[in-house]
Amino acid sequence: MTTRRNFLGYAATAVGAMPFAGAALAQNSSSTSSSSSGSGAAAASQASASAASGYDASTANKELDVISLPRLKDDFEAAVPKAGYVFVSGAKGDEWTLRENRRAMEDFRLMTHRLTGVSPQDLDLSVEILGQKLPFPFFVAPMGAHRMVHEEGEVATARGTGMAGALYCSSGASNKTLEEIAEATTGPKWFQLYFNQDVNVTKSLLRRAKKAGYSAILLTADALGPGTPDEFRAMGMPFRPDMTFGNHDPAFGGTGDFLAQKVDLTPDDIKMIKDETGLPVIVKGILRGEDVDPIIAAGADAIQVSNHGGRQIDGVPGAISALPLVAKAVDGRVPVIMDSGIRRGIDVIRALSMGATCVAVGRPVMYGLGVGGAKGVQSVLETLANELRTDLLLTGARSVADLDASYISVTGASAEMQEN
Ligand SMILES: Cc1cc2nc3c(=O)[nH]c(=O)nc-3n(C[C@H](O)[C@H](O)[C@H](O)COP(=O)(O)O)c2cc1C
Repeated sequence: MTTRRNFLGYAATAVGAMPFAGAALAQNSSSTSSSSSGSGAAAASQASASAASGYDASTANKELDVISLPRLKDDFEAAVPKAGYVFVSGAKGDEWTLRENRRAMEDFRLMTHRLTGVSPQDLDLSVEILGQKLPFPFFVAPMGAHRMVHEEGEVATARGTGMAGALYCSSGASNKTLEEIAEATTGPKWFQLYFNQDVNVTKSLLRRAKKAGYSAILLTADALGPGTPDEFRAMGMPFRPDMTFGNHDPAFGGTGDFLAQKVDLTPDDIKMIKDETGLPVIVKGILRGEDVDPIIAAGADAIQVSNHGGRQIDGVPGAISALPLVAKAVDGRVPVIMDSGIRRGIDVIRALSMGATCVAVGRPVMYGLGVGGAKGVQSVLETLANELRTDLLLTGARSVADLDASYISVTGASAEMQEN
């Protein structure tokens, strides 16, 4: 179990709270907020009110008329407690990388073809990755702490993802257990691992994930330190007091301290996951071409370009800017996945044209969860698929498999990065 003492131990060693320094931290809120900004007193009283009463997240379950994924953010703000909104929508530091994930998309201009004879019936959005056929080239990024947003937590997200026919990647920081989530998922599913310092805890998670039917393990390589937005810290880290890391909660048969994560990861850790499970391994959080060779040599089956949606280290480039460099280094040896900043059909086209086989979507799925529960998640994924269908038609490509770098003109800061 996570205790205040071992959390503070982490902070003292500058490793800090992992991104979901969870339920136990709710009890720490008044002490953390006292050292925070000028708005600390108000935030602290708000946080302790939450801690005393718990707070009710959304219980919605309704189809949404989604105009676009970015516009759903305002509805999300209105639908969930402030703590959930700040935690999900925010990012690290000055949130430059969060903004840059979106701005950098504009560096990738779409070069459309005309008179290609493609009709809507011809369009094929499907892709195949690691033995899974996906109806469209995006899946739900691993995200923890869904009970900050919806009372049913990840079970609703997983159900809604299955209703849309999409792949669900279950976070190691989920509030629900990986088994409950697996049961709710009707589509394909992957499990995201936070590698634990205690190898027996890691092995137990891997064995459970395999038994529950997850078909790949996604190792997150970039969540090595504090990952919470400044605003959330200023509020006193108001996690729900009734919320735990489901996979580690003894009340649900879990073991180990979620926060005791292995920080000094090496390629050997990839080998261990493969030996233990025999499942394909995806390594998430890669931003440089130079990092790729040892990861592939260790047996990784896919590489995920990601800056964690700007939630880990601010100042790193937009993920789309890093994608061509990583894809070039990978050179077709394994599939490349990309996430961070995907909001529109044209973003999916940009990423696939620059070398990704598929992409992952983060926050907008949480927006759908908060506003509409499982059905809201389904609406978000279907909206993106419909947008992609129209955008692909307007691009002049018949299928997502036809997309390549010839569909894009790279400009601005992203073009400069390719030259350096
Ligand atoms: C609330 C929240 C929780 C997250 N939790 C995790 C996690 O447990 N594991 C992980 O690998 N990434 C986690 N991420 C990062 C996402 O997997 C993904 O990289 C990011 O959200 C993509 O950026 P986007 O939100 O702009 O689409 C989380 C992101 C959010 C917003």
